[in-house]
Amino acid sequence: MSRIRKTVEAMQGYVPGRQPEGSFVKLNANENPYPPSPKALEALGNVGANSFRLYPSSTAVNLRKTAAEIFGVPFDCIVAGNGSDDIFTMIIRSILDEGDTLAVVDPTYTLYETLAEIQGARTERHPLKEDYALPESFFESDAKLKILPNPNAQTGTLFPEADIIRLCESAQGVVVIDEAYALFAGTSSLPLLKRFKNLVVTRTMSKSHSLAGMRVGFGMSSPDIIDAFMKVKDSYNLNAASQLIAAAALKDEEYTAGIVKALNETRDFFARELASLGWQVAPSAGNFLLARPEKGNAAEIVARLEKAGYLVRHFDTPRLKDKIRFSIGTPEQMERLIELLKNNE
Ligand SMILES: Cc1ncc(COP(=O)(O)O)c(C=O)c1O
Repeated sequence: MSRIRKTVEAMQGYVPGRQPEGSFVKLNANENPYPPSPKALEALGNVGANSFRLYPSSTAVNLRKTAAEIFGVPFDCIVAGNGSDDIFTMIIRSILDEGDTLAVVDPTYTLYETLAEIQGARTERHPLKEDYALPESFFESDAKLKILPNPNAQTGTLFPEADIIRLCESAQGVVVIDEAYALFAGTSSLPLLKRFKNLVVTRTMSKSHSLAGMRVGFGMSSPDIIDAFMKVKDSYNLNAASQLIAAAALKDEEYTAGIVKALNETRDFFARELASLGWQVAPSAGNFLLARPEKGNAAEIVARLEKAGYLVRHFDTPRLKDKIRFSIGTPEQMERLIELLKNNE
């Protein structure tokens, strides 16, 4: 008899972007090539010995106060997490019972499905249309929970607000909009929280704030849903240093806006360059691009780039295997990458 739960034994587990040793240009996990705000680094210097000796605030009180101000959401409508992945764990734990259904689109961020699997819930995958727009079936599904990144992961697609409103209006249960990349898109569903009590909006400090290594994310919703998340979260889920540093980074909106603008400009430059090489590039509102080479095998190109010191992401799934996802780096990194692709190195 196995010592492991059947569901866990049968599942594959989430496969994150690789973090290998060595000096690679890392364009495989949508990390930010710029340093975090100098104010965040200054806050790091202020992390005193007590922050190591004592437990941190279990509900990240000061960080949530700052987040409430910056996001324009009441304090009791916010939970903080060890990255937004931790928020998804809270969502799945508190909403899905064994046998319940999670609805997601395909392709998208696959961690949601992995977490549902752990919970013993089933996942309905709704294939996006050819142009990556939402399919009717996703609106019509009566799943207890729907999770949708906006902009979408892997494709970069920005779904219009009318779609989000329709999802909230038609849902039988809770709708989660994962706004990991929202600052790059410049739009947000946060204002809809006042109107829809079944809506959860998540944010992360990993992408636009250059703090992937600190692991900080937020979930925002109506107080009763946030109360449920608080009950199921790990007790001290966010360490003291991350709480301090994230609050300082959040406050420095001017710095964040600057690096977001730079990345958007570099993304648009890179998209034009790829298109001029004959690649088919999906319109992206995130800090990454999904593109299909005119010729050649995507997996082989990825392997060649790795030999040249560039890590990019390939997903071996039916709709993504002929494409490559490039995270956006500095202009110099992307110019060199274009040279490598031109020379087929
Ligand atoms: C759509 C989406 N949501 C969430 C995450 C993870 O965010 P965090 O680092 O806050 O756990 C990612 C990471 O790539 C992502 O693509």
